[in-house]
Amino acid sequence: MHYLKDRGFTHAHAGDITPREVYEGRRVLLRNLAAGAAGVALAGWAGRDALAQVARPGKLATLPGARSAVAGALTMEKLTPYGDATSYNNFYEFGTDKSDPARAAGTLKPRPWTIAVEGEVKKPKVYDLDELLKLAPMEERIYRLRCVEGWSMVIPWVGYSLAELIKRVEPTGNAKYVEFVTLADKSQMPGLRSSVLDWPYVEGLRLDEAMHPLTLLTFGLYGEVLPNQNGAPVRTVVPWKYGFKSGKSIVKIRFVEKEPRTAWVKAASQEYGFFSNVNPAVDHPRWSQATERRIGEDGLFQKKRPTLMFNGYEAQVGQLYAGMDLKKNY
Ligand code: MTE
Repeated sequence: MHYLKDRGFTHAHAGDITPREVYEGRRVLLRNLAAGAAGVALAGWAGRDALAQVARPGKLATLPGARSAVAGALTMEKLTPYGDATSYNNFYEFGTDKSDPARAAGTLKPRPWTIAVEGEVKKPKVYDLDELLKLAPMEERIYRLRCVEGWSMVIPWVGYSLAELIKRVEPTGNAKYVEFVTLADKSQMPGLRSSVLDWPYVEGLRLDEAMHPLTLLTFGLYGEVLPNQNGAPVRTVVPWKYGFKSGKSIVKIRFVEKEPRTAWVKAASQEYGFFSNVNPAVDHPRWSQATERRIGEDGLFQKKRPTLMFNGYEAQVGQLYAGMDLKKNY
């Protein structure tokens, strides 16, 4: 919304990789939308092909992705409307109200952009965004995102497995964790004047979590580049963890030996642990995590949904935590 369509994104993997039926679906869907049908996800479509739900909102530069073959990557649930996914955000660098990022993130300049990949790797490198965009084929992944605050969304992200990047820089034997550092530039991010968090926003994963195919290096949503408020131009999405583990607007990826001190662990370690796997059986000290409110579905009589273990990705990621006490390692 805050940068123009002609910002010069060039993508090696344009339309030709999206199956024809998906395009046909999109066209019909767009026609329906133009004719006044409400919402992006039309009943009946979802069952046939989750991707057929994905209509481009036409706001930003296109970024198509091929249907992902990664297990668990295509949740068959109704998508959260684009308007909700891009106006109800947590991005404290632009303020702490849900509506702040959409209003204030226009000052973020997602180009030019580089990411420094460094630390315990044999091939450290500063990647230009254009190089990252071409590093691996773009995939569309429909993930549930569960925020620690008790709400969730279903979003079609575009990107590729972070493992694609990790393989290329060749972690050394000392690399046990990966740290993700968000931009911290006062001239672009008005929220940095507040001391709610110790800037920059830092997040981290264990190396095996970072290498898991579901961990997505993310450049877009809804077939377009990321809006600033969702973490342009590049962020992570780790679908089995609470949303705050997915750092936005990343400028540095560091491979380290010791567990990183993340921004949320520094702010309140009794409330936000390093792992932060979605777990309905482990309550936040101040509220239950057993249920969630799906954004876009609220209404007076709307029942909350039960929260699923590992946000519904247990079959794919449960093994990563075999033998661990998840109450202790929250
Ligand atoms: N990354 C940065 N740099 N700053 C933030 O405040 N908020 C996190 C996460 N990443 C946050 C961040 C939280 S709490 C959530 S729920 C998700 O971003 C929200 O992502 P979305 O706005 O794209 O839904």
